[in-house]
Amino acid sequence: MNAVFKKLSRALRHPFNARYAFKRLKDYHAQPRSLDEVVDWAMNFGGGGYMRIKTLQIPSEITRLAQAVRAIEPRIILEIGAASGGTALIWSTLASERVITCDLQDMSHQAPLFTRLPPPGSNCTVTLLSGDSHDPHFNARVARELNGRQVDFLFIDGDHTEQGVTADYLDYKEFVRPGGLIAFHDIVERQPLPTNQVYHLWKRLKPLAATEEFVNDPGQCGFGIGVLHVPEQGAPALPA
Ligand SMILES: C[S@@+](CC[C@H](N)C(=O)[O-])C[C@H]1O[C@@H](n2cnc3c(N)ncnc32)[C@H](O)[C@@H]1O
Repeated sequence: MNAVFKKLSRALRHPFNARYAFKRLKDYHAQPRSLDEVVDWAMNFGGGGYMRIKTLQIPSEITRLAQAVRAIEPRIILEIGAASGGTALIWSTLASERVITCDLQDMSHQAPLFTRLPPPGSNCTVTLLSGDSHDPHFNARVARELNGRQVDFLFIDGDHTEQGVTADYLDYKEFVRPGGLIAFHDIVERQPLPTNQVYHLWKRLKPLAATEEFVNDPGQCGFGIGVLHVPEQGAPALPA
C-alpha cells in the first residue's frame, strides 16, 4: 500500500518536478561550464522524484577522475550504475559522441531529462539502459548498442559486492579500447556498508596494470576512486 501511495504521489508531483528540472537545465546550459562547475552542478542540480540529478561523490575525487577522462579525449563512455544521473551529467560534457549509462531501475521516466544533458553544441547523445549488468542478455544489448566499437572509458559503479564488481569488470572489460580507462568507485578499504567490497577486486587489479587512486583522505570511510589504464593487449584477466 505504501509503495502504491508513493508511486501515486510521485506521479502527481511529476509535472512540477519536470518544470523545475528543465528550468535548472536551462540555467546549466546558459553558458559554457568549466569542469569544476560541471562537478558542482552534478552535486547540486537538485530536483525531485524522477526529475532529480544528484551524485554522491567527493568533489576532489570525481574532479580528478573527470580530468583524467578528459585527457584521453573520449568519444564513447559507458557507465554501470546511473542512479540519479550525476556522473552521467559529467560524462555528457566529456564524450564527443556518446554516453551509455545503465541501471537496475527503470530509467524510462528519467529519459526526457537525462538525454538532454549534453551542453549546447555537443554532438554527444545519452542512451539510458534499464537492466541487470550481470544478465548476459543485457551484456549483449550493450554490445548491440556499441555495434563493434569500443569505449574510451568505463565507469563501474553498480553492484558493489566483491562478486558483483568482479563480474562487471570481467564482463565489460573487452568493451574498452587499449589506452582507455576503467574506473571503480568506493575502492577504500574502510566502508560504511559491509556490501561495499570493491576493495577486494581493486587489490587484485593493482599489480596487473598501471593504476591511479583518487582518494581525498587516506583515513576516510567510503568513497575513493581507482583508475586502471588499459594496456595495449587489453584489460588484464584476473589470475586464479
Ligand atoms: C552508487 S549508485 C551510482 C551512482 C552514480 N554513478 C553517481 O555517482 O551519480 C549505484 C547504482 O547502481 C545500480 N546497480 C546496482 N546493481 C546493478 C546491476 N547489477 N546492474 C545495473 N545497475 C546496478 C543501483 O540501482 C544504483 O542506482
